[in-house]
Amino acid sequence: MARTTKKTAPKTTRTTKKPAAKPKDLRNRKMAAPRLPYLPQDPKSYKPNIGLIACGGITATHLRAYKKAGYKVVALCDLIEQRAQDRRKEFYPKADVYVDYRDVLARDDIEVVDIATHPKDREPLLEAALRAGKHVLSQKPFVLDLDFGKKLIRLADRKGVKFAVNQNGRWAPHFSYLRNAVAAGLVGEVFAAHLSVHWNHNWVKGRPFDKIRHCILYDFAIHWFDMLNCLMGSKKARKVYASWARSPGQVATPKMLGQVGIEYDKAQASLTFDADVRYGGQARNYIAGTAGTLISQPEGDEQEQVTIYTPKGFGKPRLRGQWFPDGFHGTMGELLRSIEQGREPYNSARHNLESLALCFAAIASAETGKPVKPGTVKRLEPGWM
Ligand SMILES: NC(=O)c1ccc[n+]([C@@H]2O[C@H](COP(=O)([O-])OP(=O)(O)OC[C@H]3O[C@@H](n4cnc5c(N)ncnc54)[C@H](O)[C@@H]3O)[C@@H](O)[C@H]2O)c1
Repeated sequence: MARTTKKTAPKTTRTTKKPAAKPKDLRNRKMAAPRLPYLPQDPKSYKPNIGLIACGGITATHLRAYKKAGYKVVALCDLIEQRAQDRRKEFYPKADVYVDYRDVLARDDIEVVDIATHPKDREPLLEAALRAGKHVLSQKPFVLDLDFGKKLIRLADRKGVKFAVNQNGRWAPHFSYLRNAVAAGLVGEVFAAHLSVHWNHNWVKGRPFDKIRHCILYDFAIHWFDMLNCLMGSKKARKVYASWARSPGQVATPKMLGQVGIEYDKAQASLTFDADVRYGGQARNYIAGTAGTLISQPEGDEQEQVTIYTPKGFGKPRLRGQWFPDGFHGTMGELLRSIEQGREPYNSARHNLESLALCFAAIASAETGKPVKPGTVKRLEPGWM
């Protein structure tokens, strides 16, 4: 009798193979934000006498910053003497008061002058100060004519003095962190920068700014053109498109809405200014690069907070300080450091001319409705001011 063989199932070796581990996605992991030198810096030992020419509204912030930093302001000058007297009383009671800027320039013990008039009044003062051999910090917007700006820069070079522009936004804590992060290569090559501001600028009504036709795209926006100039590094803008409009509820005279699109080689940027926002105002900056992204925006009631996104995760630096007055500490501190170290200031007039070229191109585009190549519009036409 044939034996039946019991069929047994072939033995299987049970493998408890784990599924292959997915590469860790670190993008959503919180990381320590990179530490960057975003705070204003002081010279090591150079503490020259400083003269302030013009004591208008904004100079309270200049002097608040200088006093906090321990800078030596020894002369205060304004055509309206009372304004200089008021600043003296509040900030530097030992300073001398002048109504004629030439008396400040004639003082050999003053090496640095800070000139804070409006641009039209400022141009002859800048020239006289450089001719007198002073290191100069100019308020913004720097000049009304790019060629005149170049002439002043050549004069400063000939005189061997440093020439900087008070683009204090560069040291606003969030902007300073953003530009330092980009300069350190933390987000790779920047290909997109979108900066927008939505706020209420109607306060200019009845003040000299109310008479500036391009109060928004020129006087105000120069800080953002300047920021873009810092963020885009060596990339040169090819074309600028801009438009402007009146807002239905605006109180101020100049048009309160402006927007700008900028073309670069392998990059694009935009600036938006909504200057008639009464509720929920805010500012936001979005910068994308090949290796990361930077965002700054208000969080809750706090001022602009920065988030940096990289392949290793995202980080939120705890930033100290405020644009007003720390930005003003940053600009004067950098000028003083550049004098002490015998180098070009980071906020040099030379670098700022590139920001102005973008700004002038945008104004020309808004006026004509056509795209404009930066650098081709050298000055604001009389009808555009
Ligand atoms: N964030 C910033 O950096 C910021 C903010 C506001 C204003 N600003 C800029 O600062 C400049 C001044 O603004 P403001 O608000 O102080 O203006 P303002 O009108 O309050 O003051 C201008 C002052 O300049 C004085 N002045 C004019 N010619 C003079 C001369 N030859 N000698 C001495 N004094 C002279 C006037 O008497 C006046 O007191 C503008 O260019 C403006 O765009 C910058």
